[in-house]
Amino acid sequence: MRVLVTGGAGFIGAHLCRRWLEGGAAVTIFDNFSRAGSEENWQRLRAESAPAAALALLRGDVRDAAGVAAAVAGQDAVFHLAAQVAVTTSLAEPRRDFEINAAGTLNVLEAARRAIRPPFVLYSSTNKVYGALRGAARATAVGEDQPLDFHSPYGCSKGAADQYVRDYARIFGVPTAVFRMSCIYGPGQNGSEDQGWVAHFARALRAGEAVTIYGDGEQTRDLLFIEDLVEAMLLAWRRREGCAGAVFNIGGGAANVRSLREVMAALERLVGRRLETRAAAARPGDQRHYCSDIRRFQALTGWQPRVGVAAGLARLDQWFAGQRATAEGRAA
Ligand SMILES: NC(=O)c1ccc[n+]([C@@H]2O[C@H](COP(=O)([O-])OP(=O)(O)OC[C@H]3O[C@@H](n4cnc5c(N)ncnc54)[C@H](O)[C@@H]3O)[C@@H](O)[C@H]2O)c1
Repeated sequence: MRVLVTGGAGFIGAHLCRRWLEGGAAVTIFDNFSRAGSEENWQRLRAESAPAAALALLRGDVRDAAGVAAAVAGQDAVFHLAAQVAVTTSLAEPRRDFEINAAGTLNVLEAARRAIRPPFVLYSSTNKVYGALRGAARATAVGEDQPLDFHSPYGCSKGAADQYVRDYARIFGVPTAVFRMSCIYGPGQNGSEDQGWVAHFARALRAGEAVTIYGDGEQTRDLLFIEDLVEAMLLAWRRREGCAGAVFNIGGGAANVRSLREVMAALERLVGRRLETRAAAARPGDQRHYCSDIRRFQALTGWQPRVGVAAGLARLDQWFAGQRATAEGRAA
């Protein structure tokens, strides 16, 4: 079994690679290490994995079609996670965002289509393809038939890629699947206020730093712990025939919906300290409420999120506490 993970040195990618390596697959990471923390993720993964020969690294950029084609050749499965991941950055640099997310994905698809045996391609899309969802209530789960409404350059570039990935199954017969993912969190996440807010809050609380709350903090998301996402990705591969050409909303579902303020309060209880906050205006296009309707993927594979928010946040906090203890030990 040969697996390529673009963005494999990122948060989700590193967890996914670890699982594939544990299962005995030969894993290749294709990453340009543009995200802070990627180098550390890679070093951790390399140190953990045995035998080392099962893990390979290609330092490359998904904007380089020839480099992508060389990486895709001979793979059984491609998990395409490499991306420009922040809405804020996409507003500052829309063309770069497009070239990485939309054109970079086309490079992956073209490489897969031209391969002697096209690999399974799983694409990591986002709930942002559904736009601001004005008027959505907290408990309303969004299904895959929700009309698309790309909002922000990031929404457009990820959404365009989402549609290309879907169509390459229909028009060229490449076995692809799309995961429209909501809020993924867990150990190893290098969160910032631009992306990965749960980890951003958890790290700031341990570090005694303030965070900015955009809007009133009552926005809600359905949180999905990283291990549950990785399990879903492996299941998609196992059930690839049933998944081909399909789009799935993947998140924590109704049981794991929390507001920013609820997550803050839960973390504060864990650490026994208040998180200092600054107030700022709501960000354009920010969804008020989002909850994934996960029934389509559940029905096909039997998957369901197993790590609830309380347990997931505790594990995230433990990871940050461990990181701080290690850093302080080094400094002493
Ligand atoms: N984390 C979430 O909550 C979430 C939610 C929805 C969708 N997603 C999607 O999942 C994927 C992975 O997200 P993540 O949270 O692990 O992000 P991440 O930033 O930790 O990982 C992305 C990786 O891609 C690499 N990368 C960026 N640009 C690249 C390029 N041009 N060429 C090669 N590599 C490049 C980065 O160095 C990084 O290692 C992304 O496509 C993201 O849009 C994530």
